[in-house]
Amino acid sequence: MTSLPLVPLPSSVTPSPGAFFALTADVAVTGDADAAGVLHRLILTRTGLHLTADPGRAVIDVAVDGDGPPESYRMSVDEHRVSIRGADAAGLFYGAQTLGQLIAGSPEGWVIPAVDIADEPRFAYRGVMLDVARHFHDVSTVTAYLERAASLKFNVLHLHLTDDQGWRLALASRPELAARASSSAVGGDPGGFYTPDDYRAIIAHAAANHMTVVPEFDMPGHTHAVGLAYPEVAAAPSLEGWDAAGGPTPVAGEPYSGMGVGFSSLRIGAPATDAFVEDVLTELAELTPGPYLHFGGDEAHGTPAADFATFVARTSRVISRLGKTPVAWHEAGAADDLAPGTIGQYWGFITPTDGADERARAFVARGGRVILSPADAVYLDMKPTADAPLGLTWANGPTSLERAYSWEPVDVVSGLTDDDILGVEAPLWTETVRDLDGIDALAFPRIAAAAEAAWSVATGAADDRTWESFRERVSGLGPLWTTLGIRFPASSEVAWTP
Ligand code: ACM
Repeated sequence: MTSLPLVPLPSSVTPSPGAFFALTADVAVTGDADAAGVLHRLILTRTGLHLTADPGRAVIDVAVDGDGPPESYRMSVDEHRVSIRGADAAGLFYGAQTLGQLIAGSPEGWVIPAVDIADEPRFAYRGVMLDVARHFHDVSTVTAYLERAASLKFNVLHLHLTDDQGWRLALASRPELAARASSSAVGGDPGGFYTPDDYRAIIAHAAANHMTVVPEFDMPGHTHAVGLAYPEVAAAPSLEGWDAAGGPTPVAGEPYSGMGVGFSSLRIGAPATDAFVEDVLTELAELTPGPYLHFGGDEAHGTPAADFATFVARTSRVISRLGKTPVAWHEAGAADDLAPGTIGQYWGFITPTDGADERARAFVARGGRVILSPADAVYLDMKPTADAPLGLTWANGPTSLERAYSWEPVDVVSGLTDDDILGVEAPLWTETVRDLDGIDALAFPRIAAAAEAAWSVATGAADDRTWESFRERVSGLGPLWTTLGIRFPASSEVAWTP
């Protein structure tokens, strides 16, 4: 078992016990300028060392050499030299992140243990989702969170941009959304929205960290806020069978600040609604360089089933026509004629209930793939412990670190193979979360378990792909996370390294 604090577990780790590379200020980083910049910043943050720019006593050499699968890298560390080779720029970036995890304080000063590593991802899509609708999170919070995720080799930031409580992206085609539908949030907290420039800044920061932004406009449910701006496209709140979550009752045309779900719907079939959907998705496609647009589709309990099927099929086809790949939560799998290749996002439990697995399989039957977000494992907004101040519990919560770790992607939806699974995503809904400290308190350390599910080999397929090994490896990441400014709760399930 490797005790090196490497998460997610690399494909192959061969340590040379006892030997190390001494990391001192006269070490030079040579080679690829972008990766060198990443390493300079990481080493400065972790150790306080400003490395010299000139080739000195010893070098860390970084280069893209084109060998190996996408996003893969190889690293070798001995007493004299560190070498990182990436198949591509992303692979080299991930190699730099791995190096950051290896840096350790010792009686001899800062050291990097001698080791050979070869590493590649299991899944192409490794996502985190941030809900910026229940509470609005500003650009600096979003960029801080995406940097945290990128350091664990996530490559997708899914932004849940709209919900009953607020619409968070200003659109020139529909100016009333920012003007009238953005100022509310859960609990009566202040809302907010991104300007197109804000959104572009998030995308650029994500790209610099090798992450793709997947924006979501959630429809046809979760749309109460839309009715504040364009009442003609919103149905009246439907309060039959909705879950009030102990909060206020929604009133058409008034901001909703509760945590209830399942009461709102767009007016399906109305020409005004079709025009609205066309406008907002066209503009979103223009603003978004990445390949995916997510259109929600979850918990549309206020939409009659036949209308729901008509709406999601039509909307998926609008997105395809715009040249993007549609993504929807698994409920949309109920529709017969989704655009071919639509991606389904499964948010049922590790052991499926209520036909959620059947809905997910329907995407594959139509040429799509599935993103796995089992709510009782990777919903980072579940309370980690019963007494945690933030978080919810509806998904079999509280969700321990061990439960967040102990699931195997290919075993969730029976009938799917690895090839049917696009990847794994860990959502963080923010009903109870106002700021970055709250995000850190819920996301860490469980986000590291999700990273391992997304990147590393299948559960049990390597000696170290076990809870016992993960628990040991993650324990050594505390000092790095602390220097990165992450205010993670010291879960009692882990014996943290001071
Ligand atoms: C969801 O949690 N409603 C996707």
